[in-house]
Amino acid sequence: MAGGFYTADLGSVAPAGVFREAFAWPSPPIAIRSRAGGRMSQDSLMIIGGQWGDEGKGKVVDLLSGGFAAVVRYNGGNNAGHTVRFADRRFALHLVPSGIIHPGVTCYLASGMVVDPSGLVGEMDKLVGEGVEIDGRIVLSPRATLILPTHRALDAAREGMRGADRIGTTGRGIGPAYQDRAQRRALRGHVLADDPSTRRRDAMALMEQHNHELEALFGAEPVDLEVAMAELERVAGRLGPLVAEVGPALRRHRADGEAVLFEGAQGVMLDLAWGTYPYVTSSSCLPGFAAASCGIGPRLLGPVIGVMKAYATRVGGGPFPTELDDATGEGLRERGAEYGTTTGRPRRCGWFDAVAARFAVEVAGIDAVAVTKLDVLDGCPEIRVATAYRLPDGSAVDTFPADSTVAERLEPVYETLPGWRRPTEGVTRIADLPAEARDYLGYLEAKVGAPIVIVSTGPRREETLVRGDGELERRLRELVAGG
Ligand code: IMP
Repeated sequence: MAGGFYTADLGSVAPAGVFREAFAWPSPPIAIRSRAGGRMSQDSLMIIGGQWGDEGKGKVVDLLSGGFAAVVRYNGGNNAGHTVRFADRRFALHLVPSGIIHPGVTCYLASGMVVDPSGLVGEMDKLVGEGVEIDGRIVLSPRATLILPTHRALDAAREGMRGADRIGTTGRGIGPAYQDRAQRRALRGHVLADDPSTRRRDAMALMEQHNHELEALFGAEPVDLEVAMAELERVAGRLGPLVAEVGPALRRHRADGEAVLFEGAQGVMLDLAWGTYPYVTSSSCLPGFAAASCGIGPRLLGPVIGVMKAYATRVGGGPFPTELDDATGEGLRERGAEYGTTTGRPRRCGWFDAVAARFAVEVAGIDAVAVTKLDVLDGCPEIRVATAYRLPDGSAVDTFPADSTVAERLEPVYETLPGWRRPTEGVTRIADLPAEARDYLGYLEAKVGAPIVIVSTGPRREETLVRGDGELERRLRELVAGG
């Protein structure tokens, strides 16, 4: 691959020559040589969301993670809902990295996360109940921010105050916890391993401030702090032994030649800076944050795979230019089972937005794309893709604007492609896809500016195909086969 071009079986809409010119790896993405001449990052890989979250990252991480020694969550908290399937069972993971289903993978929760201790213990208990061996396999950074019941109460109170402008948060206390982190008054992971009297002193002091804010700023009911404290004590005993620094452990994995998979939560369009602010989550969803969160240099991160649905969804408020408020949108929701893993809320559905996707590829440095839920488009007589936007005054907009009041007014400019008659559901070989589906993939990759290397045609692990034959694709094929 080094110095070469990606070549895929491009559809008729995007002739290979055009695409070859438009897209070349900026630098060899797989093997970056250190000054000492060793291969630094050929084994690590990053999986991030390329849209508004819920792209199916859980399936992709689960699919690949058997080939990694470590899987790391580095942003967000239990606002995420990563669904993985194992045998006939379905796991909804919110905090524990999706690699936990594979024996032998160590799972890390890094410092940039906000961790609800009770949520984490609840998830661990569920995994144990399902027969997953978790002992010694979960490591929590002493620097991760803890979410307390008072953060959840503040989240609800703030949202209530915003009325019609509410962000539509998951209600998990994510924003208030990150706010405390930035305000330098948060409790951090090490508190779980501290002695109980220090923990009580620090937790009570913070929660008393929260209660004061709940009453004075929002006129809301204070939280019963003795109940909250008892709950914290209940889980601290379980979590204290898991607390350890993440960065040194990841460096050890790499020094031993072991691969690390970084599992991003949410998506680029929900990123605190680059998403549809203020309708975003409170953490960075970009790959660079993984280095800061884990306390490792950026050279230890690998190529970035951006996961994108074959259409688009978002949950909560905020701009969504291709949203469909009609039977087509309803059809996508029903066929795609578009209901939140974390909150159960119906997701807003729409056509693939190639402007937003290209923006995501650029700002996040996405090297390759995994397209999920292609089968949900089975039966659509035609498929639309937004390739530009217009404002009500007719002016053209060709990238995602910083100002959400502008983004709310964008009218998508669509190109229409033919649908396919034969189902793609469960197809595992590119050659077995209908020609129109292959063309659709070729069209999308030309529009977003990154090759599509993985296509998911159903929720199960085996309903997946790897596309292309570069070095990255060969490795992905091995990982999927080894799954
Ligand atoms: P918060 O992260 O709970 O503060 O929610 C902020 C916004 O991000 C809301 O629109 C949520 O619906 C959205 N959000 C947060 N986490 C996820 C996720 O994992 N998938 C999809 N949307 C999310």
